[in-house]
Amino acid sequence: MSHQTVLVLDFGGQYNQLIARRVRECSVYCEVLPYRTSMEEIKAKHPIGIIFTGGPNSVYEKDSPKIGAEIFQLGVPVLGICYGCQLMAQLLGGQVTAAQEDTAREYGKTETCYDTSCRLFDGLPERGISWMSHGDYMAKVPEGFALAAHTEMCPTAAIADESRGFYGVQFHPEVHHTENGTQMLRNFLYKVCGAVGDWTMGDYARTAVEELREKIGEKKVLLALSGGVDSSVAAALLAKAVGSQLTCIFVDHGLMRKNEGDEVEAAFADKGVRFIRVNAEERFLGRLAGVSDPERKRKIIGEEFIRVFEEEGKKIGKVDYLVQGTIYPDVIESGTGDAAVIKSHHNVGGLPDYVDFKEIIEPLRLLFKDEVRQLGAELGLPGYLVNRQPFPGPGLAIRVIGEITKEKLEILRDADYIFREEIAKAGLEREIHQYFAVLTNMRSVGVMGDGRTYDYTLALRGVTTTDFMTADWARIPFDVLDVVSRRIVNEVKGINRIVYDITSKPPATIEWE
Ligand code: XMP
Repeated sequence: MSHQTVLVLDFGGQYNQLIARRVRECSVYCEVLPYRTSMEEIKAKHPIGIIFTGGPNSVYEKDSPKIGAEIFQLGVPVLGICYGCQLMAQLLGGQVTAAQEDTAREYGKTETCYDTSCRLFDGLPERGISWMSHGDYMAKVPEGFALAAHTEMCPTAAIADESRGFYGVQFHPEVHHTENGTQMLRNFLYKVCGAVGDWTMGDYARTAVEELREKIGEKKVLLALSGGVDSSVAAALLAKAVGSQLTCIFVDHGLMRKNEGDEVEAAFADKGVRFIRVNAEERFLGRLAGVSDPERKRKIIGEEFIRVFEEEGKKIGKVDYLVQGTIYPDVIESGTGDAAVIKSHHNVGGLPDYVDFKEIIEPLRLLFKDEVRQLGAELGLPGYLVNRQPFPGPGLAIRVIGEITKEKLEILRDADYIFREEIAKAGLEREIHQYFAVLTNMRSVGVMGDGRTYDYTLALRGVTTTDFMTADWARIPFDVLDVVSRRIVNEVKGINRIVYDITSKPPATIEWE
């Protein structure tokens, strides 16, 4: 696939994926690589620009992440963000120190003045809010650099060496609190790096279809269809590339939401590809019996998935390729980059060593979620499928806290269904990006009619987010929550108390397990 590439070198900051997403939103392809990536590998990618991310360290600490200064000899423009900016300054002969209390330590929204004659800030207002998060300070700017932005506290909020195409910003242009942040990145890409904007989902679809045809040839392909956005889009892509060789297997692991299994079947049953539904509830619940650790649950489900596919594959005859709908955040979050592994997403981290297929194809592994949706639309999938809220591969197994039983799953399904129904009735489906019920393993005392109850507490979770890496809890109107709560307690046996989760991510995660 020929397109321009920007490299995002990851120094361990929390917004690294966000930077990559912003770059992609500007129609420029980019990849996130660990800062330790060798110079040979970097050169081999022929980047048109390089971005150093932020990170939690201080550049003057002995073991802080570094990169060889040769990177500045490649003739490629570099944008350093926060830690990346300080690192660039230090490597090029500047000086970075800890900010004193009353000088340049800054956190949060900060009024910033920009030099709009600098290419990075070209065409932007001279003042605006930027998002700062730094305790260090560039006491001395390297030779050749000019000051390009300042705040009340900090004279070196941005630095630029326009002749070499090196820019550094102390703030985070990638977070939406920074006014015109995306425009700054766009300026870097288009006005400094010479981007042409050759990354679009239409092009991606065409090239991906060609590449898949070439790779697969006459061979048979098996696709794991969950009915979620990712596997559905992967199915549409494969159907277009090699429809008659494709078999979609939908493993109903008994951990789907209410009616979902039937809906998936209905959506894909007559789409011109072979569709097989495997009802494997007993098998999955059997293996999950007595298991309460979330990571164990994920591992078991991941392994069992693969086993079922192997078995089905054998029934079909020789199958060479297995397709999975893995997407880029799964790849990065599973530890490819330098970020810590938070949860091993079952479709990556849970893969067993031995897999009885020639190869696994992951046609979406370079795409972010919003790109997957665009691609789905491009391939003609209906809006209700493409815009479906995400549902984790392990399904309700990670929404029943602790041990899973059939009875608990039934309770959760009914409660979750009511919650979703009421959110839809209130017209909030598009505003809240993910919402679901969680069955806690806590019981408490209640009173119903004249009797005492001792039943489960159900938690409701709703979040707003753009990337699912960070999220805010959704401000669902009390009236809506009230109806949901009354309906669930009245209609679902086994629940006598409802709580609403008001934590953001971080520090919490979206799912409870
Ligand atoms: P967390 O809980 O990590 O969730 O904040 C972020 C997003 O990922 C989904 N999620 C998963 N998806 N396998 C998946 O396919 C998993 O094991 C898994 N765990 C979480 C979650 O629903 C949310 O959209």
